[in-house]
Amino acid sequence: MNLITIFDLTRAELEGLVERGEKLKRKRKEGLKASNELEGKTLALIFEKPSTRTRVSFEVAMHELGGNVISLNWNELQLGRGERVRETARVLSSYVDAVMIRAYRHDTVEEFANYASIPVINGLTDLEHPCQTLADLMTIKGYKKNFAGVTVAWVGDGNNVCNSLIGGAAITGMNMRVASPDGYEPAKVVVERAKKMGGEVLITENAEEAALGADVLYTDVWVSMGDEKEREKRERVFKKYQLNEDLVRVAKEDAIIMHCMPVHIGEEITEGVLKSENSVIFEQAENRLHAQKALLLKLLEK
Ligand code: CP
Ligand code: NVA
Repeated sequence: MNLITIFDLTRAELEGLVERGEKLKRKRKEGLKASNELEGKTLALIFEKPSTRTRVSFEVAMHELGGNVISLNWNELQLGRGERVRETARVLSSYVDAVMIRAYRHDTVEEFANYASIPVINGLTDLEHPCQTLADLMTIKGYKKNFAGVTVAWVGDGNNVCNSLIGGAAITGMNMRVASPDGYEPAKVVVERAKKMGGEVLITENAEEAALGADVLYTDVWVSMGDEKEREKRERVFKKYQLNEDLVRVAKEDAIIMHCMPVHIGEEITEGVLKSENSVIFEQAENRLHAQKALLLKLLEK
């Protein structure tokens, strides 16, 4: 089994991962950090782009489950000199038990998975970030108790994180509203797939319309990795798409504030909102560790 897109998971699988993540979180808080379920297993991490949370949480997750991890930068591998993804996938499949890849193009991860004979995990592409959604769902459930009836408002770029969250919302029965500027909407293919499975997805250019009465307010950077050439244009286009005190006032009083991080203060979020009582951003980042442990166990446990 692979996790290339959030749609690879059924509702039962997704909810099962969240529940297992919650259990692992409780266990760790009680001081039970180390176990040996993945003893003898090796996970390779391949990064074509930078990462803090994804890299460290996967490394720590494998260590705490008794397994090994090898972290590799694209350019240090022969991939950086033009060796094809498909041969790399076949070779690594004979050495390690699973691979996580963070790549620019989504089809790079798809190609890797097509030629690998081991589980492949998408660690972020231009289209999706499903591992982030696992932690996001765990965070939302922690505060809202259920998924049904929860309204999630996304404000900003309809990017990879947004796309996976739309899928996650549709699978778990949450309402999703996305406010993004013209030309920066989430991927059509994702929205259509979510709607086809009964997901409620509202796409608007109006941030207040999305945030009105919402239970969750979520944003991400205006300039994603790979979009740096467009920085100036994006700073102009996204000006009105900021999680600030005025926008927070429009949502429910107990609305939680979410962000996948890294944050760019003064761009997509204000310092005040980041530090506000309703902000769960650091817990959300912590949940990456627990949710990914649950995922690794599902993919690798004997
Ligand atoms: N949210 C997230 O994936 O962060 P990193 O880019 O630091 O891994
Ligand atoms: N949308 C951001 C998410 C970073 C975790 C990016 O792709 O850079």
